[in-house]
Amino acid sequence: MPDTRILSATDDDSKEAVTEAVALLAAGEVVALPTETVYGLAADALNPEAVAKIFAAKERPAFDPLIVHVGKRGDLYDITEVPDDIRETVDQLTTKFWPGPLTLVLPKKPCIPDIVTSGLPTVAVRQSANLVFRAIGKALGKPLAAPSANRFGRISPTSASAVAKELGGRIPLIVDGGACRDGIESTIILIEPREGKKPIFRLLRAGPVSKEDLQPFGRVEKVKERPGDAPEAPGRLPGHYAPGTPLLLFDRPEDFRPEPGKRYGLLSHRGTGDAGYLNLHDWDVVESLSPGSGKLSEAAIRLFYLLRKLDEAGLDFIVAEPISETGLGVAIMDRLRRAAAGSQMP
Ligand code: TXA
Ligand code: MG
Repeated sequence: MPDTRILSATDDDSKEAVTEAVALLAAGEVVALPTETVYGLAADALNPEAVAKIFAAKERPAFDPLIVHVGKRGDLYDITEVPDDIRETVDQLTTKFWPGPLTLVLPKKPCIPDIVTSGLPTVAVRQSANLVFRAIGKALGKPLAAPSANRFGRISPTSASAVAKELGGRIPLIVDGGACRDGIESTIILIEPREGKKPIFRLLRAGPVSKEDLQPFGRVEKVKERPGDAPEAPGRLPGHYAPGTPLLLFDRPEDFRPEPGKRYGLLSHRGTGDAGYLNLHDWDVVESLSPGSGKLSEAAIRLFYLLRKLDEAGLDFIVAEPISETGLGVAIMDRLRRAAAGSQMP
């Protein structure tokens, strides 16, 4: 495939991009689309040959299942078999959080091809809040399978230019809808019913919908990760979201012992001296997730963008300052830990 077209789409003017994207998707092609979390690489979820092209373009292993995006809330019931004992909870959650960054893992209907779910009996489903994404799904009239539009194991793209760096020359079209609103991938949960009590939500991946947001509807529990377990969500594998430059996370700032002659960049939270990282070293580069204010929503939006920027800065190491783990901080630290784990892998 010689080149990748990039068509811009704003909420007011998206006609050409939508028409082109729908034509390609209907013809069984893949197209990169903006969502409110990160850019996705989309294909018709009901067409296994089209879905196979997602795996090829991303170099994604076949054991890693995809998220399916429905156009309307009710479309959920076309592709999943919602058990009676969690139906009320599913209705509550989708009413509250859809369209938006909450993905539910539910028993699938036979219309969803095995390639989408990697042979699992369940499918991960959400409804994106991005208006351009929704317009394309609606015009196509099919659910869209879409993982993040990066090569496997790499940093998720939050802009069209980041997608172009990841997948340029491999896909026919990128729809440029500007920067992503949330900047971090959706929260993924599995619902376990309990008799006479609120259900348990197994948190398969932390994301923009936080534990605190979910608690009114059920008890949120982390999934214990034991080495050797089959991954329920490979996004949970250590080594996911890794930049090419090794990323270091320390328990305490004092643990940092710079090697002479090496170039170190700091991914700071606020970009002020308070937390002890800024003054720890004469950094070659400093980037701040939320300059001055330390706002978690801003930090999440800028996380993947700054990881990419630091990765391209010719550094020997990136040092990430830890963030307190409340609300969105849980998802941010989750991505940083995985990026750090990936750096230590051979
Ligand atoms: O925000 C998002 O979720 C973005 C946008 C594009 O929607 N998508 C995304 O997809 O992050 P991806 O493929 O990068 O991550 C999806 C995760 C994977 O780690 C996958 O293993 C998990 O969802 N997953 C998919 N189906 C599953 C299932 N049936 N059971 C458990 N986990 C599943
Ligand atoms: Mg991904």
